[in-house]
Amino acid sequence: MKTKRSDSGNGYSVMIWYPLPLPLSPQEFRVTHRLIPALSLLMVLLFTASCSDDSSTQTRAVTGDEPSPAQTVAGPEADGSGAGTSDTRADYHSYAQTHQFLVQHLDLDLAVNFDQRVLRGTATLTVERQGNDSNELVLDTRDLSVSGVRAGGMEGLATVPFSVGKADPILGAALRIELPADATLVEVAYQTSPRASGLQWLTPAQTAGKRHPFLFTQAQAIHARSFVPLQDTPAVRFTYNATIRVPAPLLAVMSANNTPERSAEGVYRFAMPQPIPSYLLALAVGDLEFQAMGERTGVYAEAEILEAAAAEFADTEAMLEATEERYGPYQWDRYDLLILPPSFPFGGMENPRLSFITPTVIAGDKSLVALIAHELAHSWSGNLVTNASWRDLWLNEGFTTYLTNRIMQIVYGDERYRMEMALGYSELVAEMAGMETLDQLLALDVRGRDPDEAFSGIPYEKGALMLYEIEQQIGREAFDRFLLDYFNTFQFRSLDTDAFLAHLDKTLLVDHADQLDRERIREWIFQPGLPAGAPAPESDAFSPIDTQRTAWLEGRQSAALISSDGWTYHQWKHFLDGMPETLTAEQLTELDETFSLTESSNNEIAFSWLMIAVRNNYAPAEKRLENFLTTIGRNKFLRPLYQALVDAGKRDEAERIFEAAKAGYHPLTVKRNSQIINAAN
Ligand code: BES
Ligand code: ZN
Repeated sequence: MKTKRSDSGNGYSVMIWYPLPLPLSPQEFRVTHRLIPALSLLMVLLFTASCSDDSSTQTRAVTGDEPSPAQTVAGPEADGSGAGTSDTRADYHSYAQTHQFLVQHLDLDLAVNFDQRVLRGTATLTVERQGNDSNELVLDTRDLSVSGVRAGGMEGLATVPFSVGKADPILGAALRIELPADATLVEVAYQTSPRASGLQWLTPAQTAGKRHPFLFTQAQAIHARSFVPLQDTPAVRFTYNATIRVPAPLLAVMSANNTPERSAEGVYRFAMPQPIPSYLLALAVGDLEFQAMGERTGVYAEAEILEAAAAEFADTEAMLEATEERYGPYQWDRYDLLILPPSFPFGGMENPRLSFITPTVIAGDKSLVALIAHELAHSWSGNLVTNASWRDLWLNEGFTTYLTNRIMQIVYGDERYRMEMALGYSELVAEMAGMETLDQLLALDVRGRDPDEAFSGIPYEKGALMLYEIEQQIGREAFDRFLLDYFNTFQFRSLDTDAFLAHLDKTLLVDHADQLDRERIREWIFQPGLPAGAPAPESDAFSPIDTQRTAWLEGRQSAALISSDGWTYHQWKHFLDGMPETLTAEQLTELDETFSLTESSNNEIAFSWLMIAVRNNYAPAEKRLENFLTTIGRNKFLRPLYQALVDAGKRDEAERIFEAAKAGYHPLTVKRNSQIINAAN
């Protein structure tokens, strides 16, 4: 990766120590922002006035003073000056030179063209100069056609020289802009590619209503650069305004202040006054309607699924209140959900004010709503306190998974909490068994890798398990107090693993020196697997399931005699996921005839069953499998299923289904699953 960057000079960046940013005084704040266009200035001031802590205006990442083993990079980065050093390019997935310029605000004006599948318009960035040694602003782009760049200040903009570097397959291309010394505004005129990695364009046939096209963005981890030229690193935060022009009957929504009213002209204006990292920039356009669920919560969805979604997720407001009560006020104004078409490649995405959600979790019985708790929890862990780079993803996902379990316990009780935790733990253990040891670290070495490919259950479940262990060691009350203080201390800032460890050294490791082991925490983070004696969550509700599964497997009990009445989704999932690799044709037929598993309308249960069916060549499930793979685009399901087909010697079948389904998949889904199928060639 380093060599790829040598186009910017010697290929290495100089190490600079960033002192912890101090809150700006209101006066400094006004000076810094005086060139932001009037509306955004007003929004920012209003927001700041309502904030007790000015640190919301901070954009720099907090980095630890202690380089970790995984972060110690050989070469000129290693600065011999001792404590207080950090790698200015700690984010290996961005070309941005954040020690020279910081983007503070984005003003977007984009037209959405469904016929050509492009976004076209301008992105105007408000930049703040950090050093005096360069006039070059470097932005991240991928597959963007830049037609011109102007720069200047409020008094006016003038054309400036720019160049787009050679595209790296993972990072995209650096856009280098020559700025006049006093420039604070930079306007880039551009259009996206129809193949933009962060956009999915759906035909009317791929929507529930079948009448209108649909567009949605997915920026995490490094796809924002495929639809906006910016400093695409989670270490930088900016506020934004946007004008989005869409075909008249459609509604546009963003990770900003949405209103359900449709514009007759198809022009929508948004403001996001809280500073966000680029991966939380989000837009969707479709034939969307809105239904309120609570005072601050509601759902956007196509009319066909609106009511079902609002009923399924009716507890969202209760989840929001529960989280606020423990972890501090919700800082983002409203919390709405956007239900996407089933090709959405994830379960959910925590876009601020508007989580993007797969419709595949609408099971009819709220059994899969932990997903909502998860995306909501990111409003604290992730959106408020943000990982500084993709190496630190566990700070987002591990904390969020821990909070998810806590929210589920508050809203649905102890038994559900235990079951959710036990399922998460089993998934972790199963996944780790087949995983390279280096990928089992919480702080991942993602240098030179596509972050999309490095991700796994580790940052989620191993991260949450470590936090659970700390909770067990110091007591829940003390740990909640720590979390509340952590969110307050680092709100609207990004931090890396080392900064987190430095914070622990000053807080929990002092206050609970006799209960916590500093080295053990490092073992959790920097060593593969789980430390000896790590917690292994179990649920009493699973014991009878295990007993009956074993009795059936040993032929002591027929499936019909399994007392499955009243089993919850979690128990079914546990029942299926605990099956051995191999089952006989008779066993599969018996299970299916007794429990109609092939017909299950719960997508998690259907998935677990289809995995068993593929592994064991169970022909009666083939049609359902094909239907599942062609109607759902969620990678969590597709990748293991395609892999299982390939492993079962059915590569041709996998390819046939994939080719038929491909046109409906998200670019990410196409990329990742074609790798699975083609690797088998
Ligand atoms: N932020 C993630 C999704 C994500 C992670 C996108 C990394 C791109 C890169 C989101 O919050 C998430 O974790 N979604 C999970 C939800 C699940 C763990 C409840 C998903 O989509 O399956
Ligand atoms: Zn998440």
